[in-house]
Amino acid sequence: MATRFAELPEEFAPEPVAVSGGYDLAVVVPTRNEAGNVARIVASLDVALRGTRFEILFVDDWSTDGTAAAIAELARGRADIRVLRRFGRSGLASAVVEGMMATMAPVVAVIDGDGQHDERLLPRLHKAVANGAADVAIGSRYCADGSTGVWNERRLRASRAATRLSRLVLRTPVADPMSGLFAIRRDAVDALLPRLSGRGFKILFDLLTSAPEPLRIVELPYRFRLREHGDSKLGPAVAIDYLVTILDRLVRRYLPSRLVMFAGVGTLGLGIHLGVLRAMLAAQPSFARAQAVAVAVAIAFNFVANNAVTFRDRRLSGWRLVAGLASFYAVCGLGALANVGAGAVLFAHHQRWWVSGVAGAVVGSLWNFAASTLVTWRRR
Ligand code: GDD
Ligand code: MN
Repeated sequence: MATRFAELPEEFAPEPVAVSGGYDLAVVVPTRNEAGNVARIVASLDVALRGTRFEILFVDDWSTDGTAAAIAELARGRADIRVLRRFGRSGLASAVVEGMMATMAPVVAVIDGDGQHDERLLPRLHKAVANGAADVAIGSRYCADGSTGVWNERRLRASRAATRLSRLVLRTPVADPMSGLFAIRRDAVDALLPRLSGRGFKILFDLLTSAPEPLRIVELPYRFRLREHGDSKLGPAVAIDYLVTILDRLVRRYLPSRLVMFAGVGTLGLGIHLGVLRAMLAAQPSFARAQAVAVAVAIAFNFVANNAVTFRDRRLSGWRLVAGLASFYAVCGLGALANVGAGAVLFAHHQRWWVSGVAGAVVGSLWNFAASTLVTWRRR
């Protein structure tokens, strides 16, 4: 049996200081074309966090305005300023997550690199998390005394609508779940990593909605400032991405996402089936033969698509692909029998023809899903 940590002599116990890298707090600053702003951010953090052992971790996504060079200049002779540069990728949420993963500090805070957030809130956000009062401490524009500052009507309305929409999927009431200014325990982030969508702009929202148990939250008000240099990256694409995330969370709560993908693939497969059937019938008159070819093609399509999407984490390749296709044909064959059987039973009990038909299709599809999960794409 392997030796467990508890059985090791005391001197092997990890030292908390070594684990945190000596810092009590890491401030993650995502940047994209913020060359004109980074010096001020560093200066303001140095002032606001005087007396705290903290490091600054920039995550720069391929800026083209010299942001990385500006950061390098600031980091000269300072071990507490680092930059994680990502190549050919972007996305605020994943940038922040990767920044959090690159530090060993027990608490991580996030602040925008453009000076719009009030860094003077950081000591209190840090303290609320460090002393155990909360898992997450949020700088909030919407709770009492908070403010969005000077914003145009359109952005204000959009932001409010997005916040209201978020209530659909948040289990704890949060006044400003889109905030980009917050602090969180790093081990809480670690625990949530496998569940994060990591997509899009709203990292806090992603964290809050991924937690299986509601996180303990503290919100502190601040006033959102005006941007002085550069442009906001928040645009229509960000809004669409946000809606997709909400949908994803809703669906994930009520239906297992694999089943949803399987059903989506199946619907496309039905389209393929009808397309092939029509093309075959145009070329030759035998319905039975045309239908048989259409079924074979549709099942093969379902197999390939499910292999690439629904079961991508268990994807089959090489010879396994051939064996998998054979087992999927077998599974779907039995599914067709289940479909016909269930439909016939209902029809015999005087159900309407279409109720019987739909019920048969549902039973057959559920069978296909369950059986192919257990056989074709079984866990190895
Ligand atoms: N690394 C990286 N990658 N950084 C990015 C990316 C990206 O793809 N996109 C934006 N950033 C950086 C910007 O350089 C800036 O430092 C910060 O993230 C926020 O981006 P802005 O473009 O300034 O966003 P905003 O001011 O419109 O939005 C702010 O308010 C929102 C609430 O309305 C942000 O704080 C959002 O997080 C917040 O949700
Ligand atoms: Mn901004």
